[in-house]
Amino acid sequence: MLTLNINGKDQELDVPADMPLLWVLRDVAHLTGTKFGCGMAQCGACTVHVDGAPLRSCITPATAVAHGQKILTIEGLSRDGSHPVQQAWAELDVVQCGYCQSGQIMSAAALLAKIPKPTDSDIDQGLSGNICRCGTYPRIRAAVKRAAEIGRG
Ligand code: FES
Ligand code: FES
Repeated sequence: MLTLNINGKDQELDVPADMPLLWVLRDVAHLTGTKFGCGMAQCGACTVHVDGAPLRSCITPATAVAHGQKILTIEGLSRDGSHPVQQAWAELDVVQCGYCQSGQIMSAAALLAKIPKPTDSDIDQGLSGNICRCGTYPRIRAAVKRAAEIGRG
């Protein structure tokens, strides 16, 4: 049994020791907002936060984050879509197919927590590990800037 703190709650989960966190989140905790893309830390679709930092959950064994670290998934970012990144994403209609987007949003939220007023270069660097096959990059960049404005009030 592993105890994981997911979206603010401790959960006791009966999982194999080597199961990647992504599988635990999706198949055991039933939090399917986090997506499987490549499974090789190459696309960013599986991005969640661990203690506020973005992490590729597809290559991270769940045991590595079972020591009281706080795991945040897209479901925990806000209860009602009111996080500045979610508001900006909706306002600028960023999403196309949507597959990459929870990972993009989690990376954007982590970037803004660290750099509240990011430059283009900060955004490109902060989200460089998140691939979008639909090519929504220009809207993502604009939405990160908009989220920064919303966050500043
Ligand atoms: S699924 Fe984890 S980086 Fe692609
Ligand atoms: S919106 Fe389709 S992969 Fe990014």
